[in-house]
Amino acid sequence: EQARQIQQTMAEFRLSKAQLLEVKKRMRVEIERGLKKDSHKEATVKMLPTFVRSTPDGTENGDFLALDLGGTNFRVLLVKIRGGKKRSVEMHNKIYAIPIEVMQGTGEELFDHIVHCISDFLDYMGMKSARLPLGFTFSFPCHQTSLDAGILVTWTKGFKATDCEGEDVVELLRDAIKRKEEFELDVVAIVNDTVGTMMTCAYEEPTCEVGLIAGTGSNACYMEETKNIEIVDGTEGRMCVNMEWGAFGDNGCLDDIRTRYDQAVDENSLNEGKQRYEKMCSGMYLGEIVRQILIDLTKRGFLFRGQISETLKTRGIFETKFLSQIESDRLALLQVRAILQQLGLDSTCDDSIIVKEVCGTVSRRAAQICGAGMAAVVDKIRENRGMDHLDITVGVDGTLYKLHPHFSRIFQQTVKELAPKCDVNFLLSEDGSGKGAALITAVGCRQRELEA
Ligand code: BG6
Ligand code: GLC
Repeated sequence: EQARQIQQTMAEFRLSKAQLLEVKKRMRVEIERGLKKDSHKEATVKMLPTFVRSTPDGTENGDFLALDLGGTNFRVLLVKIRGGKKRSVEMHNKIYAIPIEVMQGTGEELFDHIVHCISDFLDYMGMKSARLPLGFTFSFPCHQTSLDAGILVTWTKGFKATDCEGEDVVELLRDAIKRKEEFELDVVAIVNDTVGTMMTCAYEEPTCEVGLIAGTGSNACYMEETKNIEIVDGTEGRMCVNMEWGAFGDNGCLDDIRTRYDQAVDENSLNEGKQRYEKMCSGMYLGEIVRQILIDLTKRGFLFRGQISETLKTRGIFETKFLSQIESDRLALLQVRAILQQLGLDSTCDDSIIVKEVCGTVSRRAAQICGAGMAAVVDKIRENRGMDHLDITVGVDGTLYKLHPHFSRIFQQTVKELAPKCDVNFLLSEDGSGKGAALITAVGCRQRELEA
Protein backbone atom coordinates (compact mmCIF):
# COMPACT_ATOMS: atom_id res chain seq x y z
CA GLU A 1 0.00 0.00 0.00
CA GLN A 2 2.82 2.38 0.91
CA ALA A 3 4.60 1.48 -2.31
CA ARG A 4 1.44 2.16 -4.27
CA GLN A 5 0.99 5.62 -2.73
CA ILE A 6 4.60 6.51 -3.46
CA GLN A 7 4.15 5.37 -7.06
CA GLN A 8 1.02 7.49 -7.29
CA THR A 9 3.00 10.56 -6.29
CA MET A 10 5.70 9.75 -8.82
CA ALA A 11 3.09 9.22 -11.52
CA GLU A 12 2.27 12.93 -11.53
CA PHE A 13 5.77 13.50 -12.91
CA ARG A 14 5.63 10.89 -15.63
CA LEU A 15 4.56 12.51 -18.86
CA SER A 16 3.24 10.64 -21.87
CA LYS A 17 4.39 11.34 -25.41
CA ALA A 18 1.04 13.00 -26.06
CA GLN A 19 1.61 15.36 -23.14
CA LEU A 20 5.10 16.19 -24.34
CA LEU A 21 3.82 16.89 -27.84
CA GLU A 22 1.32 19.23 -26.21
CA VAL A 23 4.17 21.04 -24.40
CA LYS A 24 5.98 21.40 -27.74
CA LYS A 25 2.82 22.77 -29.37
CA ARG A 26 2.22 25.29 -26.60
CA MET A 27 5.83 26.45 -26.77
CA ARG A 28 5.30 27.10 -30.46
CA VAL A 29 2.20 29.19 -29.71
CA GLU A 30 4.15 31.28 -27.16
CA ILE A 31 7.05 31.71 -29.61
CA GLU A 32 4.67 33.23 -32.15
CA ARG A 33 3.16 35.52 -29.50
CA GLY A 34 6.58 36.81 -28.55
CA LEU A 35 7.53 37.52 -32.15
CA LYS A 36 4.36 39.40 -33.13
CA LYS A 37 4.15 43.13 -32.56
CA ASP A 38 0.54 43.03 -31.28
CA SER A 39 1.15 40.40 -28.65
CA HIS A 40 4.85 40.95 -27.83
CA LYS A 41 4.15 43.13 -24.78
CA GLU A 42 2.01 40.58 -22.95
CA ALA A 43 3.91 37.54 -24.20
CA THR A 44 5.50 35.35 -21.54
CA VAL A 45 8.19 33.93 -23.83
CA LYS A 46 9.61 37.30 -24.74
CA MET A 47 11.69 36.47 -27.83
CA LEU A 48 14.11 39.34 -27.26
CA PRO A 49 16.11 40.66 -30.23
CA THR A 50 19.88 40.60 -29.63
CA PHE A 51 21.22 42.63 -32.60
CA VAL A 52 23.56 39.75 -33.37
CA ARG A 53 22.99 39.29 -37.09
CA SER A 54 25.41 36.53 -37.96
CA THR A 55 27.56 33.80 -36.49
CA PRO A 56 31.37 34.25 -36.58
CA ASP A 57 33.17 34.07 -39.93
CA GLY A 58 36.74 33.73 -38.69
CA THR A 59 37.83 37.27 -39.55
CA GLU A 60 37.19 38.54 -36.00
CA ASN A 61 40.33 40.03 -34.53
CA GLY A 62 41.64 41.89 -31.47
CA ASP A 63 42.03 41.76 -27.67
CA PHE A 64 38.91 41.98 -25.56
CA LEU A 65 37.77 41.85 -21.99
CA ALA A 66 34.70 39.81 -21.19
CA LEU A 67 32.52 39.46 -18.12
CA ASP A 68 30.40 36.38 -17.49
CA LEU A 69 27.72 37.02 -14.87
CA GLY A 70 24.66 34.99 -13.95
CA GLY A 71 25.69 31.33 -13.95
CA THR A 72 27.34 29.35 -11.17
CA ASN A 73 30.55 31.36 -11.52
CA PHE A 74 31.29 35.02 -12.13
CA ARG A 75 34.32 35.35 -14.40
CA VAL A 76 36.43 38.12 -15.80
CA LEU A 77 38.27 37.17 -18.98
CA LEU A 78 40.86 38.44 -21.42
CA VAL A 79 40.22 36.99 -24.87
CA LYS A 80 42.81 37.41 -27.64
CA ILE A 81 41.36 36.61 -31.03
CA ARG A 82 43.48 36.34 -34.15
CA GLY A 83 41.58 36.13 -37.44
CA GLY A 84 42.46 34.84 -40.87
CA LYS A 85 44.08 31.61 -42.06
CA LYS A 86 45.84 30.76 -38.81
CA ARG A 87 42.98 31.91 -36.62
CA SER A 88 43.32 31.32 -32.91
CA VAL A 89 41.80 32.30 -29.60
CA GLU A 90 43.78 32.63 -26.39
CA MET A 91 41.93 33.09 -23.11
CA HIS A 92 42.88 34.04 -19.57
CA ASN A 93 40.27 34.14 -16.85
CA LYS A 94 39.71 34.42 -13.15
CA ILE A 95 36.67 33.35 -11.15
CA TYR A 96 35.29 35.66 -8.48
CA ALA A 97 32.69 35.04 -5.82
CA ILE A 98 29.53 37.11 -5.64
CA PRO A 99 28.34 36.93 -2.05
CA ILE A 100 24.61 36.48 -1.61
CA GLU A 101 24.38 39.88 0.15
CA VAL A 102 25.72 41.44 -3.04
CA MET A 103 23.37 39.48 -5.32
CA GLN A 104 20.46 40.68 -3.25
CA GLY A 105 21.73 44.07 -2.08
CA THR A 106 21.60 47.37 -3.97
CA GLY A 107 22.36 47.69 -7.66
CA GLU A 108 25.20 50.09 -6.91
CA GLU A 109 26.85 47.58 -4.59
CA LEU A 110 26.52 44.84 -7.19
CA PHE A 111 28.08 46.89 -10.00
CA ASP A 112 30.79 48.31 -7.71
CA HIS A 113 31.67 44.75 -6.81
CA ILE A 114 31.86 43.78 -10.50
CA VAL A 115 34.15 46.72 -11.25
CA HIS A 116 36.27 45.86 -8.22
CA CYS A 117 36.76 42.38 -9.70
CA ILE A 118 37.68 43.84 -13.12
CA SER A 119 40.22 46.06 -11.36
CA ASP A 120 41.74 43.07 -9.58
CA PHE A 121 41.87 41.15 -12.86
CA LEU A 122 43.60 43.99 -14.73
CA ASP A 123 46.20 44.18 -11.92
CA TYR A 124 46.66 40.43 -12.10
CA MET A 125 47.22 40.60 -15.86
CA GLY A 126 49.35 43.76 -15.54
CA MET A 127 47.08 45.69 -17.93
CA LYS A 128 45.69 48.55 -15.88
CA SER A 129 46.42 51.17 -18.52
CA ALA A 130 44.98 49.37 -21.55
CA ARG A 131 41.64 50.70 -22.69
CA LEU A 132 40.02 47.55 -24.00
CA PRO A 133 36.66 46.91 -25.59
CA LEU A 134 34.44 44.82 -23.33
CA GLY A 135 31.70 42.26 -23.95
CA PHE A 136 29.34 41.66 -21.06
CA THR A 137 27.67 38.26 -20.78
CA PHE A 138 24.72 39.11 -18.56
CA SER A 139 22.47 36.07 -18.21
CA PHE A 140 19.14 37.73 -17.54
CA PRO A 141 16.32 39.00 -19.78
CA CYS A 142 17.24 42.33 -21.34
CA HIS A 143 15.27 44.44 -23.74
CA GLN A 144 17.85 45.45 -26.32
CA THR A 145 17.61 48.29 -28.81
CA SER A 146 21.20 47.86 -29.98
CA LEU A 147 24.23 45.68 -29.29
CA ASP A 148 25.29 47.95 -26.42
CA ALA A 149 21.99 48.79 -24.71
CA GLY A 150 19.96 46.39 -22.61
CA ILE A 151 17.21 47.21 -20.17
CA LEU A 152 16.85 44.55 -17.49
CA VAL A 153 13.28 43.25 -17.74
CA THR A 154 13.38 41.33 -14.47
CA TRP A 155 15.93 39.50 -12.33
CA THR A 156 15.75 35.72 -12.39
CA LYS A 157 17.48 32.84 -10.55
CA GLY A 158 19.20 33.96 -7.32
CA PHE A 159 19.61 37.67 -8.10
CA LYS A 160 17.49 40.46 -6.68
CA ALA A 161 19.59 43.64 -6.46
CA THR A 162 17.52 46.82 -6.12
CA ASP A 163 17.30 49.66 -8.67
CA CYS A 164 18.29 47.59 -11.70
CA GLU A 165 15.04 46.40 -13.22
CA GLY A 166 13.94 48.83 -15.91
CA GLU A 167 17.49 50.26 -16.15
CA ASP A 168 20.05 49.93 -18.91
CA VAL A 169 22.58 47.50 -17.51
CA VAL A 170 25.34 48.81 -19.80
CA GLU A 171 24.85 52.28 -18.28
CA LEU A 172 24.93 50.82 -14.77
CA LEU A 173 28.28 49.22 -15.60
CA ARG A 174 29.66 52.39 -17.23
CA ASP A 175 28.60 54.46 -14.20
CA ALA A 176 30.34 52.06 -11.83
CA ILE A 177 33.53 52.21 -13.94
CA LYS A 178 33.40 56.03 -13.71
CA ARG A 179 32.85 55.93 -9.95
CA LYS A 180 35.99 53.84 -9.56
CA GLU A 181 38.13 56.38 -11.49
CA GLU A 182 40.87 53.82 -12.09
CA PHE A 183 40.60 52.74 -15.69
CA GLU A 184 38.61 53.29 -18.85
CA LEU A 185 36.80 50.58 -20.77
CA ASP A 186 34.61 50.56 -23.82
CA VAL A 187 31.46 48.53 -23.19
CA VAL A 188 30.60 47.39 -26.72
CA ALA A 189 28.12 44.55 -26.30
CA ILE A 190 25.72 43.02 -23.82
CA VAL A 191 25.17 39.34 -24.48
CA ASN A 192 22.89 36.67 -23.03
CA ASP A 193 24.71 33.45 -22.05
CA THR A 194 22.68 31.43 -24.59
CA VAL A 195 23.89 33.79 -27.33
CA GLY A 196 27.51 33.72 -26.10
CA THR A 197 27.34 29.92 -26.04
CA MET A 198 25.91 29.72 -29.56
CA MET A 199 28.70 32.02 -30.83
CA THR A 200 31.43 30.09 -28.98
CA CYS A 201 30.24 26.87 -30.61
CA ALA A 202 29.61 28.46 -34.03
CA TYR A 203 33.24 29.56 -34.17
CA GLU A 204 34.19 25.87 -34.38
CA GLU A 205 31.07 24.59 -36.13
CA PRO A 206 29.33 26.95 -38.60
CA THR A 207 26.09 24.91 -38.61
CA CYS A 208 25.52 25.98 -35.00
CA GLU A 209 22.57 28.38 -35.04
CA VAL A 210 20.95 27.56 -31.70
CA GLY A 211 22.21 28.06 -28.14
CA LEU A 212 20.95 26.19 -25.07
CA ILE A 213 21.69 26.61 -21.37
CA ALA A 214 20.63 23.83 -19.02
CA GLY A 215 22.27 25.02 -15.83
CA THR A 216 21.27 27.14 -12.86
CA GLY A 217 18.60 28.52 -15.19
CA SER A 218 17.17 27.26 -18.48
CA ASN A 219 16.99 29.19 -21.74
CA ALA A 220 17.61 29.06 -25.49
CA CYS A 221 18.35 31.34 -28.45
CA TYR A 222 18.38 30.79 -32.21
CA MET A 223 18.79 32.58 -35.52
CA GLU A 224 15.35 33.82 -36.56
CA GLU A 225 14.41 35.47 -39.85
CA THR A 226 14.53 39.23 -39.22
CA LYS A 227 11.23 39.67 -41.05
CA ASN A 228 9.55 37.46 -38.41
CA ILE A 229 10.78 39.62 -35.50
CA GLU A 230 8.13 42.27 -35.86
CA ILE A 231 9.51 44.69 -33.28
CA VAL A 232 12.78 44.97 -35.24
CA ASP A 233 12.92 47.12 -38.40
CA GLY A 234 14.18 45.48 -41.55
CA THR A 235 13.31 42.38 -43.48
CA GLU A 236 16.71 41.18 -44.61
CA GLY A 237 18.69 38.31 -43.16
CA ARG A 238 18.53 36.82 -39.70
CA MET A 239 18.96 37.93 -36.13
CA CYS A 240 19.58 35.89 -33.01
CA VAL A 241 16.61 35.92 -30.62
CA ASN A 242 17.04 35.36 -26.88
CA MET A 243 13.85 33.41 -26.21
CA GLU A 244 13.77 33.66 -22.39
CA TRP A 245 11.86 30.42 -22.44
CA GLY A 246 12.21 30.06 -18.67
CA ALA A 247 9.07 32.20 -18.38
CA PHE A 248 7.04 29.72 -20.46
CA GLY A 249 3.96 28.82 -18.44
CA ASP A 250 3.74 32.12 -16.55
CA ASN A 251 0.32 32.67 -18.15
CA GLY A 252 -0.93 29.37 -16.74
CA CYS A 253 -0.52 27.35 -19.93
CA LEU A 254 1.43 24.59 -18.14
CA ASP A 255 -0.84 24.38 -15.11
CA ASP A 256 -2.20 20.97 -16.10
CA ILE A 257 1.23 19.39 -15.76
CA ARG A 258 2.48 21.38 -12.78
CA THR A 259 2.20 19.50 -9.51
CA ARG A 260 1.63 20.84 -6.00
CA TYR A 261 5.36 20.33 -5.45
CA ASP A 262 6.10 22.68 -8.33
CA GLN A 263 3.75 25.18 -6.75
CA ALA A 264 5.47 24.87 -3.39
CA VAL A 265 8.86 25.49 -5.03
CA ASP A 266 7.41 28.56 -6.74
CA GLU A 267 5.95 29.92 -3.50
CA ASN A 268 9.30 29.50 -1.76
CA SER A 269 11.22 31.31 -4.50
CA LEU A 270 12.47 34.89 -4.88
CA ASN A 271 10.16 35.46 -7.86
CA GLU A 272 6.81 33.83 -7.20
CA GLY A 273 4.68 33.20 -10.27
CA LYS A 274 7.59 33.81 -12.62
CA GLN A 275 9.86 31.47 -14.59
CA ARG A 276 7.51 28.53 -14.13
CA TYR A 277 9.04 26.35 -16.87
CA GLU A 278 12.55 27.13 -15.59
CA LYS A 279 11.42 26.02 -12.13
CA MET A 280 10.50 22.62 -13.58
CA CYS A 281 13.68 22.03 -15.53
CA SER A 282 16.75 23.89 -14.28
CA GLY A 283 19.47 23.10 -11.77
CA MET A 284 18.57 25.79 -9.28
CA TYR A 285 15.14 24.22 -8.71
CA LEU A 286 15.33 20.47 -9.36
CA GLY A 287 16.74 19.80 -5.91
CA GLU A 288 14.00 21.96 -4.43
CA ILE A 289 11.31 19.88 -6.14
CA VAL A 290 12.97 16.75 -4.78
CA ARG A 291 13.05 18.29 -1.30
CA GLN A 292 9.35 19.15 -1.45
CA ILE A 293 8.48 15.59 -2.41
CA LEU A 294 10.69 14.15 0.32
CA ILE A 295 9.06 16.42 2.91
CA ASP A 296 5.65 15.24 1.79
CA LEU A 297 6.59 11.55 1.79
CA THR A 298 8.12 11.96 5.24
CA LYS A 299 4.98 13.65 6.56
CA ARG A 300 2.99 10.75 5.24
CA GLY A 301 5.31 8.42 7.15
CA PHE A 302 6.92 6.77 4.12
CA LEU A 303 10.46 8.08 4.66
CA PHE A 304 13.03 8.88 7.36
CA ARG A 305 10.85 7.18 10.00
CA GLY A 306 8.40 10.03 9.62
CA GLN A 307 10.84 12.54 11.11
CA ILE A 308 11.35 15.84 9.24
CA SER A 309 14.88 16.93 10.14
CA GLU A 310 16.16 20.50 10.12
CA THR A 311 18.25 19.56 7.10
CA LEU A 312 15.20 18.62 5.10
CA LYS A 313 13.71 22.01 5.94
CA THR A 314 16.77 23.80 4.57
CA ARG A 315 16.34 25.45 1.17
CA GLY A 316 18.83 24.59 -1.52
CA ILE A 317 20.45 21.55 0.11
CA PHE A 318 20.13 19.35 -2.96
CA GLU A 319 22.44 21.10 -5.39
CA THR A 320 22.82 19.74 -8.91
CA LYS A 321 26.06 18.03 -7.97
CA PHE A 322 24.33 15.99 -5.24
CA LEU A 323 21.46 14.97 -7.49
CA SER A 324 24.03 13.96 -10.08
CA GLN A 325 25.89 11.83 -7.55
CA ILE A 326 22.74 10.20 -6.20
CA GLU A 327 21.59 9.28 -9.70
CA SER A 328 24.92 7.95 -10.84
CA ASP A 329 24.49 4.31 -11.91
CA ARG A 330 27.87 3.36 -10.58
CA LEU A 331 26.86 4.18 -7.03
CA ALA A 332 25.87 1.38 -4.72
CA LEU A 333 22.97 2.15 -2.41
CA LEU A 334 25.39 2.30 0.46
CA GLN A 335 27.05 5.24 -1.25
CA VAL A 336 23.70 6.95 -1.78
CA ARG A 337 23.20 6.63 1.94
CA ALA A 338 26.63 8.11 2.52
CA ILE A 339 25.73 11.16 0.42
CA LEU A 340 22.47 11.61 2.30
CA GLN A 341 24.45 11.25 5.50
CA GLN A 342 26.80 14.03 4.36
CA LEU A 343 23.75 16.22 3.88
CA GLY A 344 22.69 15.37 7.39
CA LEU A 345 19.94 12.91 6.47
CA ASP A 346 19.88 9.58 8.29
CA SER A 347 18.47 7.03 5.91
CA THR A 348 17.66 3.35 5.89
CA CYS A 349 18.32 1.25 2.85
CA ASP A 350 14.67 1.54 1.82
CA ASP A 351 14.83 5.31 2.21
CA SER A 352 17.78 5.56 -0.12
CA ILE A 353 15.98 3.53 -2.79
CA ILE A 354 13.03 5.91 -2.62
CA VAL A 355 15.21 9.03 -2.65
CA LYS A 356 17.05 7.80 -5.71
CA GLU A 357 13.78 7.11 -7.50
CA VAL A 358 12.40 10.54 -6.63
CA CYS A 359 15.53 12.21 -8.03
CA GLY A 360 15.36 10.15 -11.20
CA THR A 361 11.72 10.93 -11.79
CA VAL A 362 12.15 14.67 -11.29
CA SER A 363 15.21 14.94 -13.51
CA ARG A 364 13.65 12.80 -16.24
CA ARG A 365 10.65 15.11 -16.45
CA ALA A 366 13.02 18.10 -16.56
CA ALA A 367 14.99 16.64 -19.47
CA GLN A 368 11.79 15.73 -21.30
CA ILE A 369 10.04 19.09 -21.07
CA CYS A 370 13.28 20.85 -21.94
CA GLY A 371 13.52 18.55 -24.96
CA ALA A 372 9.93 19.37 -25.91
CA GLY A 373 10.87 23.07 -25.91
CA MET A 374 13.88 22.41 -28.11
CA ALA A 375 11.78 20.31 -30.49
CA ALA A 376 9.51 23.34 -30.98
CA VAL A 377 12.52 25.53 -31.77
CA VAL A 378 14.18 23.29 -34.35
CA ASP A 379 10.88 22.60 -36.08
CA LYS A 380 10.22 26.34 -36.23
CA ILE A 381 13.61 26.87 -37.89
CA ARG A 382 12.91 24.04 -40.33
CA GLU A 383 9.56 25.59 -41.29
CA ASN A 384 11.15 29.06 -41.60
CA ARG A 385 13.44 27.62 -44.22
CA GLY A 386 10.69 25.69 -46.01
CA MET A 387 12.53 22.41 -45.61
CA ASP A 388 11.22 18.87 -45.18
CA HIS A 389 14.35 17.98 -43.35
CA LEU A 390 16.73 20.13 -41.30
CA ASP A 391 20.30 19.43 -40.19
CA ILE A 392 21.35 21.76 -37.40
CA THR A 393 23.76 22.09 -34.49
CA VAL A 394 22.84 23.31 -31.02
CA GLY A 395 25.62 24.71 -28.82
CA VAL A 396 25.04 23.70 -25.19
CA ASP A 397 26.36 24.72 -21.79
CA GLY A 398 25.29 24.47 -18.15
CA THR A 399 26.12 22.32 -15.14
CA LEU A 400 22.89 20.31 -15.34
CA TYR A 401 23.69 19.25 -18.89
CA LYS A 402 27.35 18.64 -18.17
CA LEU A 403 27.28 17.01 -14.74
CA HIS A 404 24.05 15.08 -14.57
CA PRO A 405 24.42 11.41 -15.53
CA HIS A 406 21.13 11.13 -17.48
CA PHE A 407 19.80 14.61 -18.33
CA SER A 408 21.59 15.09 -21.65
CA ARG A 409 20.70 11.63 -22.95
CA ILE A 410 17.00 11.88 -22.11
CA PHE A 411 16.90 15.44 -23.45
CA GLN A 412 18.43 14.41 -26.79
CA GLN A 413 16.20 11.39 -27.09
CA THR A 414 13.13 13.56 -26.51
CA VAL A 415 14.15 16.07 -29.18
CA LYS A 416 14.62 13.22 -31.62
CA GLU A 417 11.21 11.76 -30.85
CA LEU A 418 9.29 15.01 -30.92
CA ALA A 419 11.02 16.57 -33.94
CA PRO A 420 11.57 13.60 -36.27
CA LYS A 421 12.14 15.82 -39.30
CA CYS A 422 15.24 17.37 -37.76
CA ASP A 423 18.69 15.91 -37.31
CA VAL A 424 20.04 17.78 -34.36
CA ASN A 425 23.68 17.67 -33.43
CA PHE A 426 24.47 18.80 -29.87
CA LEU A 427 27.83 20.44 -29.32
CA LEU A 428 29.11 21.01 -25.79
CA SER A 429 30.67 24.39 -25.20
CA GLU A 430 34.04 23.85 -23.57
CA ASP A 431 35.06 27.49 -23.42
CA GLY A 432 32.08 29.18 -21.79
CA SER A 433 30.12 32.10 -23.16
CA GLY A 434 32.89 34.68 -22.63
CA LYS A 435 34.60 33.65 -25.86
CA GLY A 436 31.35 34.20 -27.77
CA ALA A 437 30.84 37.57 -26.08
CA ALA A 438 34.33 38.58 -27.26
CA LEU A 439 33.54 37.48 -30.83
CA ILE A 440 30.37 39.60 -30.76
CA THR A 441 32.39 42.50 -29.36
CA ALA A 442 34.87 42.15 -32.24
CA VAL A 443 32.05 42.49 -34.75
CA GLY A 444 30.63 45.43 -32.78
CA CYS A 445 33.98 47.23 -32.89
CA ARG A 446 34.27 46.69 -36.64
CA GLN A 447 30.78 48.12 -37.18
CA ARG A 448 31.65 51.16 -35.08
CA GLU A 449 34.73 51.80 -37.20
CA LEU A 450 32.67 51.54 -40.38
CA GLU A 451 30.09 53.97 -39.05
CA ALA A 452 32.71 56.48 -37.84
C1 BG6 B 1 29.03 28.82 -18.39
C2 BG6 B 1 28.88 30.04 -19.26
O1 BG6 B 1 29.95 27.92 -18.94
O2 BG6 B 1 27.75 28.19 -18.25
C3 BG6 B 1 27.94 30.99 -18.58
O3 BG6 B 1 30.14 30.65 -19.49
C4 BG6 B 1 26.61 30.31 -18.33
O4 BG6 B 1 27.75 32.15 -19.35
C5 BG6 B 1 26.82 29.02 -17.57
O5 BG6 B 1 25.74 31.18 -17.63
C6 BG6 B 1 25.52 28.27 -17.39
O6 BG6 B 1 25.67 27.15 -16.52
P1 BG6 B 1 25.46 27.21 -14.94
O7 BG6 B 1 25.18 25.81 -14.61
O8 BG6 B 1 26.75 27.73 -14.37
O9 BG6 B 1 24.30 28.12 -14.65
C1 GLC C 1 17.57 32.56 -16.73
C2 GLC C 1 17.79 33.93 -17.37
C3 GLC C 1 18.27 33.78 -18.81
C4 GLC C 1 19.47 32.86 -18.86
C5 GLC C 1 19.16 31.53 -18.19
C6 GLC C 1 20.36 30.59 -18.17
O1 GLC C 1 16.50 31.93 -17.38
O2 GLC C 1 16.59 34.68 -17.31
O3 GLC C 1 18.58 35.04 -19.37
O4 GLC C 1 19.85 32.66 -20.19
O5 GLC C 1 18.74 31.75 -16.86
O6 GLC C 1 21.43 31.13 -17.46
